[in-house]
Amino acid sequence: MNAAEIKLRAMASGYQVTQLLCAAMKLRLPDLIGDHPVPLDTLAHKTGCTDEVLYRLLRALSSHGIFVEKANKAFASTPLSELMSSGSDSRVAAEIESIADFMYAVWGQLPTSLRSSKTAFEHVFGATNWEYRAKHPEENAKFNRRMAGAASQKGRLLANSYAFPGDTVLVDVGGGSGALLREVLSQHAKVKGVVFDQPHVFQDDDSEWPRDLLERCTFKAGDFFESVPADGDFYILAGVLHDWDDHNARRILQTCRAAMKPRSRMLIVEFVVPSDNEPHFSKMMDLYMFLTNVGGRERTLPEWSALVGSVELDLEATMPLGAWSCLQVHAV
Ligand SMILES: C[S@@+](CC[C@H](N)C(=O)[O-])C[C@H]1O[C@@H](n2cnc3c(N)ncnc32)[C@H](O)[C@@H]1O
Repeated sequence: MNAAEIKLRAMASGYQVTQLLCAAMKLRLPDLIGDHPVPLDTLAHKTGCTDEVLYRLLRALSSHGIFVEKANKAFASTPLSELMSSGSDSRVAAEIESIADFMYAVWGQLPTSLRSSKTAFEHVFGATNWEYRAKHPEENAKFNRRMAGAASQKGRLLANSYAFPGDTVLVDVGGGSGALLREVLSQHAKVKGVVFDQPHVFQDDDSEWPRDLLERCTFKAGDFFESVPADGDFYILAGVLHDWDDHNARRILQTCRAAMKPRSRMLIVEFVVPSDNEPHFSKMMDLYMFLTNVGGRERTLPEWSALVGSVELDLEATMPLGAWSCLQVHAV
């Protein structure tokens, strides 16, 4: 086999490793296997598998550095399996769970959805993802928890890199359970916040907020296609516009623009797709948006500039925010 063939085979068999990780999570193996080697029969008893088949799974996982086989068919954790345990503060375990729950099936519909007007999500679940989540509280709660992990990270980055003046009001449009604002308010003691999202997003949230932060934050439910809370100094749209096609993204931008005061700013926190041939997270996320959201897409910088420009907004600055970018926009 030549090098190109070896590379292509490795790419084509990626689905196998994905399923190994999903199976490990479903059986809770990263929580059952710690630093000290755990005998196979103990693991078989706890997972409800036979020794024989569980050994084959663990051997395959260990060949990829997830667990290590010790003497007498006992298995111990590795740095990779520790990241998958419920005690880890990494977001990767939640991501693998989502892959097992729905992403794997949705990506399986990529060839179909390329030639269809329906998203892959609709092909698999018979409803758009927002309709489905509104009707399935458990799935919705998991989705919101996953979003909250990403939102906290964006909030920390924004709080560290953006000099919010005191006594300003930030409106987080499509702000989920408020994880982004929570981070910003905790680092900017004079800033106030409004989290705006759909009513069922707040109903499912059970996160506890420190009292002083709650006093500076309000939660308003509504539909961002109709209107958003008025008179904010900053309108944050984090990971919202990439869910929508240009037509609907424009509608959201217009309701925000209508709510803005003359000196208000909009902060759009999204990926910017680089114009090169190199791998970039945004290029896969773009396809994931296509698969899950009607019209969902990631955008290049010229596309962002044209989108905001089409609703009389101007892109005045762009700053990197981890893997994301923060696009600062003002009304013209
Ligand atoms: C991909 S999530 C982004 C959440 C969060 N801003 C973040 O950065 O992780 C998009 C959010 O838009 C909200 N959303 C969708 N349709 C909406 C609507 N019509 N009105 C208000 N919020 C909506 C969803 O409930 C969800 O919380």
